Amino acid sequence: MKFSKLALSSMLLIALVFFLVACNSDSSEQDNNDESDTSSANGEQASEGSEEEPVTIVYARGVDTTPGTEAVIKAFEEKFPHIKVEQREMPADTGQSHDQYVTLLSSQSSEIDVFNADVIWPAEFAQANYVLELDRFIEKDGINMDDYFPGTVAAANFNGKQWAMPQYTDAGVFYYRTDIVDEPPATWDELIEMASELKGENGTEYGYLMQAAQYEGLITNAIEFIASYGGEVVDENNNVVVDSPETIKALDKMKEIVTSDFVPENIVNFMEIETENAWIEGNAVFARNWPYMMASSNDEERSEIVDNVEMSRLPAGDEGTAASLGGWMTMINRYSEHPEAAWEFVKFISGPEGQKISALEGGRAPTLSALYDDPEVQGVSSLFANPEFREVLQSAVPRPVSPIYPEVSDIMQIEISKVLTGDQTSEEAAKNMQEKIEAAMAE
Ligand code: GLC
Repeated sequence: MKFSKLALSSMLLIALVFFLVACNSDSSEQDNNDESDTSSANGEQASEGSEEEPVTIVYARGVDTTPGTEAVIKAFEEKFPHIKVEQREMPADTGQSHDQYVTLLSSQSSEIDVFNADVIWPAEFAQANYVLELDRFIEKDGINMDDYFPGTVAAANFNGKQWAMPQYTDAGVFYYRTDIVDEPPATWDELIEMASELKGENGTEYGYLMQAAQYEGLITNAIEFIASYGGEVVDENNNVVVDSPETIKALDKMKEIVTSDFVPENIVNFMEIETENAWIEGNAVFARNWPYMMASSNDEERSEIVDNVEMSRLPAGDEGTAASLGGWMTMINRYSEHPEAAWEFVKFISGPEGQKISALEGGRAPTLSALYDDPEVQGVSSLFANPEFREVLQSAVPRPVSPIYPEVSDIMQIEISKVLTGDQTSEEAAKNMQEKIEAAMAE
């Protein structure tokens, strides 16, 4: 076979490109294509951006009981008709979702393109190299990260790079039935008093609902008790300081509530979904959950208590009221075969349009501060309309930030559950958590 000079020089050029690509393993895009045919993957990226060839991306996310996700995807597909978003539902329990993502991403699977990441994952996922750095996309599209709540941007930043876009923020909030009480309780002790007195009113069965199952949500509830009594798990210098009189007091109060007769007997099996179901059936006077439960409470099709619900800050301990910081971000799988289309979706869902839809349809609290000035967003609840709520969101207490956070959480879940089931004292739990978290962090 004869080669023309042109064919030969093109082959040399291609070989050179391959060589350069293989040498430069720092660049994320090239890492991303390590396992695949480099030339076709690059060609596809170019065409996704310019010629708008049809592409389907897979978006994985936890259970959404509100119409929020569907509505955002519908709006996105209308705006970008060449990109179809296929959904993959992951478990409602964030810990279980986490484990499934780790299995999938550590095998370098390209099954999913974009996924929702809990605020506690970015450090771990960035360190494990599971996801794409987003800085080059952010710069290219001139996105101003100062428009977002600083805490949510910081939570998605690791080693100076941005690994995720903040999609919505969560802070623990208190729900009360306006057809039963005018004012929510100000302190945990007042809650205990009012919940036992009022249970049974207007067809309710319980005074209070919270998340006490042995899973991640238990940690967010516990941190609210601990912080409201002035305690901390890890201090600002990364010292473990959980063994304190404040923690002990907080766990005692938590236990008093969990073992009271105004919560469901099986409260130690309650996660968000059980809380929400019992709540919208009209079974309780008070509940702790994330802001989204307002949308469920006012959902005409599902809820028995439409227009009878208000949100407020959680009751206070000795040191005041505290909310745990939660929330979700969007990340791109490092091995996605459609990084450009994936970014287009991430940009939309975390941008003003996507966040507004998810606030209106899903009750989610935006991470873009300007949206709180939008009258429609303010209409979601009086809390969204209240400027103080921005403070609540911004001062919410984070869980320890660490690449080994799942281990820290497991330790706390086990030790705190044992207190709630009467298998150990709060003193023992505080001491055990201190020793075990210190040991895990020293490894
Ligand atoms: C919510 C929060 C998330 C937290 C989870 C616990 O989804 O946004 O940060 O980890 O609840 O159940």
